[in-house]
Amino acid sequence: MLLSGRTADPAAGETDGDSTPDLVEIQDLGVSLDGLPVLRQVWLTVPAGQAVALLGNNGSGKTTLVRALLGLTPHQAGAIRLFGAPAVRSGMSRRDGFHSWWRIGYVPQQVAISLHATTLAEVVRTGALAHRHDAVWGVTSWLHRRHARQVVAQALDQVGLTAQAKELFIHLSGGQQRRALIARALAQQPDLLVLDEPLAGVDLAHQGLIRDVLAGFRERGGAILVVLHETEALAPLIDRAVVLRDGRVVHDGPLPTDPETHWGHELEAPPRAAGLMTGLGPHWER
Ligand SMILES: Nc1ncnc2c1ncn2[C@@H]1O[C@H](COP(=O)(O)OP(=O)(O)OP(=O)(O)O)[C@@H](O)[C@H]1O
Ligand SMILES: [Mg+2]
Repeated sequence: MLLSGRTADPAAGETDGDSTPDLVEIQDLGVSLDGLPVLRQVWLTVPAGQAVALLGNNGSGKTTLVRALLGLTPHQAGAIRLFGAPAVRSGMSRRDGFHSWWRIGYVPQQVAISLHATTLAEVVRTGALAHRHDAVWGVTSWLHRRHARQVVAQALDQVGLTAQAKELFIHLSGGQQRRALIARALAQQPDLLVLDEPLAGVDLAHQGLIRDVLAGFRERGGAILVVLHETEALAPLIDRAVVLRDGRVVHDGPLPTDPETHWGHELEAPPRAAGLMTGLGPHWER
């Protein structure tokens, strides 16, 4: 964690002063999939200690943006900086890029098949092992295995899944699986959480639990980029909302109070996207 006592590293976009460094800087990003433009001229920042919601209709490009940020989907234009350093550039493979993905805890929108044959505790443990502490020193020593066990137990407790630790991941309910993936991301002890619809299928009581966990993470200096459709549960946590429409940023500012009606009308354009408000096609009229 940035504010957990470790000395700030200016080269990694960290400061000791009051200014909050941007952990994520996306500049003029363009992504095409199967030859069709999906993201166009996207600018986005996520400062340390902030929670930014990424909103937009189905197919507007939210998951594509998240995947591009993580180096999972290549981009054809623009630049992505993570923790103050270039992440991946156009035409660059993830392997050639900035090696700080271990600082990002990721909850994907869709669960990977490979998780299905393992227990919940093993799934969460993969997050703990992704942390640099283990990545650097290996996982063979008794001390590190004990540390990983403690981290896993804490993460499971945070999402209310301690009793299910030994169950097969595939036997968990949909909402429990979402919470398990959040636990895995937390177990990584990241500086940045990237969550793609983390509350999908999660019941109201556990939505509150997750909100409190995320609030604690943010208060300790962590940053959050969270894709949402329903904003109500996390609204108290959100510092800023970025709205995508047809692959473009059409709003960067306060959380829209009534998204369903608000998004159908002209939104305040962010400074860099000014001038893009025309020619957005029929979807813009809605
Ligand atoms: N691998 C792919 N190949 C081709 N097109 C793709 C691919 N992945 C996504 N797309 C297209 O890119 C667009 C954006 O998809 P994306 O998954 O980013 O949307 P989203 O905003 O996350 O939507 P949702 O709210 O439904 O999750 C969609 O039109 C989708 O069909
Ligand atoms: Mg999506």
